[in-house]
Amino acid sequence: MTEIHDEREAIVTGGGRGIGLSIARALSQAGAKVVISDSGVSIGGINPDPTVARTAASEIGSSAIAFTESIATPESAKALIDFTRDSYGRVDIIINNAAILRDSFIFKSDPDDWDAVITTNLSAAYHLLAAATPVMRAQGKADSNYKDGRIVNITSTAGLYGNFGQATYASAKAGLLGLTRTVALDMARSGVTCNAVAPFAATRVTESIQPANESQTEYKTRALRLSSHHVATFVAYLCDEKAKHVSGQLFAVRGREVFIFSQPRPKARITSPDSDWSVNSLAIAVDKEFIPDFIALETDLEAFNTDPVI
Ligand SMILES: NC(=O)c1ccc[n+]([C@@H]2O[C@H](COP(=O)([O-])OP(=O)(O)OC[C@H]3O[C@@H](n4cnc5c(N)ncnc54)[C@H](O)[C@@H]3O)[C@@H](O)[C@H]2O)c1
Repeated sequence: MTEIHDEREAIVTGGGRGIGLSIARALSQAGAKVVISDSGVSIGGINPDPTVARTAASEIGSSAIAFTESIATPESAKALIDFTRDSYGRVDIIINNAAILRDSFIFKSDPDDWDAVITTNLSAAYHLLAAATPVMRAQGKADSNYKDGRIVNITSTAGLYGNFGQATYASAKAGLLGLTRTVALDMARSGVTCNAVAPFAATRVTESIQPANESQTEYKTRALRLSSHHVATFVAYLCDEKAKHVSGQLFAVRGREVFIFSQPRPKARITSPDSDWSVNSLAIAVDKEFIPDFIALETDLEAFNTDPVI
């Protein structure tokens, strides 16, 4: 494991269990002090339990402390930043990892579930970065050699491919990509990088998958073999000084495989004079020029249906 210099302080949301706990451990092993921010809710985001974050922090030891409030409001995000500064004096690393799931087909969905998932999985990341980045920027201004700021947004391949019944979750996770790109641009001059990582790992969420067909059964069997420590080591690398030039990128980690993803850019172009700008001529042009570039309507589960390297 590479080392983070002594002075770096990290916040891991959803750090009380699963992938977040592995990331918190990896950052602590690399020398960072870590705030485990976790309200200890169920997968659906209810029944908070403060012992989740406290247990994780005491397991990591003296380099970790617990913050047990939900981070899903601007006030609690600010309280988390104040708590981190009061405890450790600074904020260098933010890992936006907390998330909930409320799946249902779009034609059966409940607007309250949309609000809850967007609030926790997307708005909370925004609120935390809105509260943290002025502090990180000031740290960058105070030290012209500062290159240590790191933000990692934990997204999902569901947000890239879509998945049946995951309109809320996929929309929030796709939203994290826009946030990642923009924060990477906004913070580039302050020595702060911002990247997104789509993980695959066995956690309580993977265990809860109810396979609806054979391909989902196979996906679940494979996913349950994946350790979250591979994801955590890659996130620790992104937080290392060796990754100071890596920003605005989208990765996935599945066991001992790391993928870098393309990001949407124009692939082909049609143009036509105004006199010929009609539904008919567009239909002909789209079929002729764009069909080869259509993206197959497949889920992330289908796209990653190969045996992982574990
Ligand atoms: N497990 C996978 O294979 C997988 C796949 C794709 C994406 N992800 C993403 O990885 C991340 C971690 O997933 P996991 O499987 O470890 O999930 P998990 O449910 O085990 O852990 C998530 C943690 O977030 C906490 N949390 C939720 N809402 C919170 C809030 N408002 N405030 C504070 N804490 C809150 C929960 O208490 C929980 O401990 C999530 O962003 C998830 O979407 C996981």
